[in-house]
Amino acid sequence: MQIPAELRERFARARRVLVLTGAGVSAESGVPTFRGGGNSAVWRGMPFDVISSAEMVERDLPAVWEWFDYRRNLLAELNPNPAHYEIARWQERFAEFTLVTQNVDGLHQKAGSRKMIELHGNIWRARCTACDTAYSMVQERRPDACFECGDLLRPDVVLFGEMLPPGAFELAAACASQCELCFVVGTSALVYPAAALPEIAKAAGAYVVEVNPERTPLSSLCDEVLTGKAGEVLPLFQR
Ligand code: APR
Repeated sequence: MQIPAELRERFARARRVLVLTGAGVSAESGVPTFRGGGNSAVWRGMPFDVISSAEMVERDLPAVWEWFDYRRNLLAELNPNPAHYEIARWQERFAEFTLVTQNVDGLHQKAGSRKMIELHGNIWRARCTACDTAYSMVQERRPDACFECGDLLRPDVVLFGEMLPPGAFELAAACASQCELCFVVGTSALVYPAAALPEIAKAAGAYVVEVNPERTPLSSLCDEVLTGKAGEVLPLFQR
């Protein structure tokens, strides 16, 4: 695949760039996607969206932790792929770069991406159910209870039936309305409000580029659709 000349030219002169990623950017690292087939995850007989729900945190928090501990242990073995590394390089390349991810897997951070907007939280963090104090689990074991208030901890991940972290979408939307170039990488663009970000960018005049081996509901809105795997397509921008 060749990067089309107009896109290459816009990429070369862009200053304000936003990248929105979904599960597909981690597929080549071995993280199953949600809807890309093969991941109708069922845990102890419970469908994915039941065990990963706010209602389950109320009903059976230990079961929720068992499920997230299992996923975290799987992720611990996995590494970023060339798409994650290329995106990490872009934070140095562009004057105003914003990475917005729907992923909770921490692979962007592992590849060196620092400042990013995590729309759905992060599986490597725990959060107090009462005072919201957050605890990293990257190196540390999670505490049994909150050191600040003694209350129970839960995964710091947006569960089904929950709102996004306060201000996260608003900040992402503000960056989307300012960017010149918007990349949408590895998302089915079915889940809102995340899927609204490229629409906001487009409406504000940005050049929108989709990277996905399959077409999505967003493809017709894009100025450029690069059909392929993120780990193979994004490194082409280095050339
Ligand atoms: N490179 C790029 N895209 C890929 C690749 C790849 N190697 N492999 C698969 N894809 C694409 C699929 O074609 C699909 O369009 O990634 C997309 C994955 O879509 P989903 O599984 O729906 O994941 P995502 O869009 O991130 O889901 C959004 O839904 O379940 C919730 O909270 C969860 O964050 C998630 C949100």
